[in-house]
Amino acid sequence: MTSSAKFWDKIADKYSKQPVSDEAAYQKKLQITRDYLRPDMEMIEIGCGTGSTAIAHAPFVKLIHAIDISSKMIEIAKSKANAEKITTVTFEQSTIDDLRVPDQTIDVVLALSILHLVESKEDVIAKIHNMLKPGGIFISSTACLGDKMGFFKLIAPVGKFLGFLPLLKVFTKKDLLDSVAKAGFLIEHQWHPEKAIAVFVVAKKPE
Ligand SMILES: C[S@@+](CC[C@H](N)C(=O)[O-])C[C@H]1O[C@@H](n2cnc3c(N)ncnc32)[C@H](O)[C@@H]1O
Repeated sequence: MTSSAKFWDKIADKYSKQPVSDEAAYQKKLQITRDYLRPDMEMIEIGCGTGSTAIAHAPFVKLIHAIDISSKMIEIAKSKANAEKITTVTFEQSTIDDLRVPDQTIDVVLALSILHLVESKEDVIAKIHNMLKPGGIFISSTACLGDKMGFFKLIAPVGKFLGFLPLLKVFTKKDLLDSVAKAGFLIEHQWHPEKAIAVFVVAKKPE
């Protein structure tokens, strides 16, 4: 098991019980996402955590395949989906690296609070670009710590070594938007809620 999987397994129970930090912003992100969804669409969610967002979007698309590196997160997500009798979301324990999706087959990819937690956001964004159909939508919300909390560059490696932080990359909003654009996406929408460190981005793969 990787150290990332161990970290997230350890906190999965606590994570599932934590309230959303900014409910109004979360609801707005759900609504913006929903404006892009149609009943015939297939969606992938990477780093789905305990599954709340996939479950919330389930009634608006045909299928959602949601993955997470943590088997504990996936266990909680599956039991929530069972409790709510949701049958159109499949949850799978998998890293993003191990996820295999045929090129140009997916309508929407969601990546919420995950791009700052991977070794290379560029590799992940390129992978998402490949799996999307032309005209497909990539929706992300990403902590851009480099803008206001650049000191995390020093703390992150120590925190990871000591086990109180996961793998954490520090970059700015500009770095993020550049990476999305360089992968070939057109940025349709960006929103940086006041005081938040997460930047919400909707990007489209050109037709
Ligand atoms: C901050 S949580 C976000 C969870 C959920 N997307 C949300 O917005 O509440 C990050 C999630 O990404 C997962 N994760 C971290 N690295 C991953 C990787 N390389 N592949 C797949 N999932 C990963 C963790 O297990 C955790 O559930």
